Amino acid sequence: MTRGRLVVGNWKMNPATIKDALALARTVGATPHAAVDIGVAPPAIALAAVTDALRSTDVAVFAQDVHWEASGAYTGQLSVSMLRGLAAGAIVGHSEVRRDQGDDDARIARKLARALGAGLQAILCVGETEAEFAQGRTASVLKMQIARDISEVSDLSPERFIVAYEPIWAIGTGRPASGAHASAAAQTIRAALDASGASADGIRVLYGGSVSAASVSEFAAADGIDGALVGGASLKADEFAAIIRAFAP
Ligand code: PGA
Repeated sequence: MTRGRLVVGNWKMNPATIKDALALARTVGATPHAAVDIGVAPPAIALAAVTDALRSTDVAVFAQDVHWEASGAYTGQLSVSMLRGLAAGAIVGHSEVRRDQGDDDARIARKLARALGAGLQAILCVGETEAEFAQGRTASVLKMQIARDISEVSDLSPERFIVAYEPIWAIGTGRPASGAHASAAAQTIRAALDASGASADGIRVLYGGSVSAASVSEFAAADGIDGALVGGASLKADEFAAIIRAFAP
């Protein structure tokens, strides 16, 4: 099964201003990219401006998170209806959101179901902690996360559902996982999807965690890895472009 490659830049709480976000978006949009699907996930406040700036380009815009309820008294949150027309999809279950907002797998499952149910794409993030990695528990943690996180979804369409394997110990540390570790994780993720009744063959699995122009070739060559979710390095347009190029067929 041939799966298209996808590289998404997760800007997190960067850059400093909406003006800076717009400038970065324009540079990314103006860079020609060969045969790789591309996305950026700006902060919520910059979504409208970035979407406008990228409207006539092939760069998709993602929200960094979305709420599990359709509307209501949820201060500071974004609903799927607010994202419609503004974003192609949302990242769901990023480890920083799990950590800072107290999201557990039950909430992630509801967020994922809400996003996919609204016709949005969803990039589900899973990954083990440093301690779990050291104890050799990566596979069991991933199996459990996948089973719980997809438990509320009946239709995992490969066009809209994407998984990002992001070992927490590799995020923002400058210490990426090895390509072999990422490959093994992708295999575990696909087996867990299959075990839950999804057809994993067409579902894209990205790697995330300190991907840079220097480390990307390892992941571009890794069996079962279909792209990258890039944090820090996506804030530099030329480095992001180099990462995209590395995934071109
Ligand atoms: P990083 O972040 O590339 O800065 O490690 C990746 C992510 O958290 O998605």
